[in-house]
Amino acid sequence: MSGSRRALVTGGAGFIGSHLVEGLVADGWRVRVLDDFSSGREENLADVRDRVDVVQADVCDLEAVAAAVAGVDAVFHLAAIPSVPQSIDQPLRADAVNVHATLGLLEASRRAGVARVVFAASCAVYGDAPQLPKREDLPPAPLSPYALHKLAGEHYCLLYTRLHALPTVALRYFNVYGPRQNPDGDYAAVIPRFLRDAQEGKPVRIFGDGAQTRDFVYVGDVVRANLSAVESERAVGRVLNVASGRETSVRDLATLVGELLGSGVAPVHEAQRPGDVLRSFADVAAAADRLGWTPQIDLREGLERTVASAGSSGADREGRIAG
Ligand SMILES: NC(=O)c1ccc[n+]([C@@H]2O[C@H](COP(=O)([O-])OP(=O)(O)OC[C@H]3O[C@@H](n4cnc5c(N)ncnc54)[C@H](O)[C@@H]3O)[C@@H](O)[C@H]2O)c1
Repeated sequence: MSGSRRALVTGGAGFIGSHLVEGLVADGWRVRVLDDFSSGREENLADVRDRVDVVQADVCDLEAVAAAVAGVDAVFHLAAIPSVPQSIDQPLRADAVNVHATLGLLEASRRAGVARVVFAASCAVYGDAPQLPKREDLPPAPLSPYALHKLAGEHYCLLYTRLHALPTVALRYFNVYGPRQNPDGDYAAVIPRFLRDAQEGKPVRIFGDGAQTRDFVYVGDVVRANLSAVESERAVGRVLNVASGRETSVRDLATLVGELLGSGVAPVHEAQRPGDVLRSFADVAAAADRLGWTPQIDLREGLERTVASAGSSGADREGRIAG
């Protein structure tokens, strides 16, 4: 049992972070959130707002970070500029938030004697290396500043474990989806875009022929992986894939969305985007071994939960159901 341990979740007002906060609260943790609300939203925390201490601050602000880590047992570091195009357009700011602030947080955690840091890494580090499934020991091939930032973040975590005995775990999330994911913007993730367009009766936009594949992992499974990562001694100093371990083409995803909404979808095909990875899915054996974690929610069920929660007022309870 977690008792009344204290956790800091950076980026806790965001899509994944807010589900994690719900999962931690449900497990009995006392939770502090540090977020600048640049892409996160207050409403994401509606269900737990009275049980969570929210600090509005920039994760680059070292004083605010030092105050936020004071007295916490575990840090979940999710705050980031999680956008590939933004990392290309604003490389210095993205580096400051994604890399420099990660180092600042590790240093503050070391000084404060934090017992575990769990870092949100990304499958972007694999780039378009052809080997499948993606295993953690493949050589990284970052294709964007964002991917490089996440790789640097992982390495800083590993270094802090080796040099300072700060226990860290880096979780490489694949394509996370679920309730509260933002469908807006040109580079929004494919699932919230498809769901919104199909629900509005619009054609879904597929870049290229739709044969490209992804590994879609439900946010509740990602929450469970984080909750295991904070407990498991065997995960310390590791980088672990967090994914479904299944390969789904974007075309099949569109068909499934149409089936679930009972409407069918009419895809329109647009030019393939430069740098788009052709095939991607993960080997999740290391996470099973080190975390005792396996994904539980398949794509159909995860989409059903996402659809069911859409339009409901305030936050949903998906993190807790799945957690
Ligand atoms: N969504 C995915 O599929 C996916 C895949 C791999 C990795 N990740 C990683 O998971 C984490 C969470 O991503 P998400 O999808 O929930 O995105 P999100 O944009 O919803 O969450 C990011 C959160 O960080 C906050 N933030 C950004 N800059 C900040 C700053 N300077 N100071 C304080 N807070 C700041 C935002 O306001 C937001 O609440 C990120 O680190 C992202 O890189 C996500």
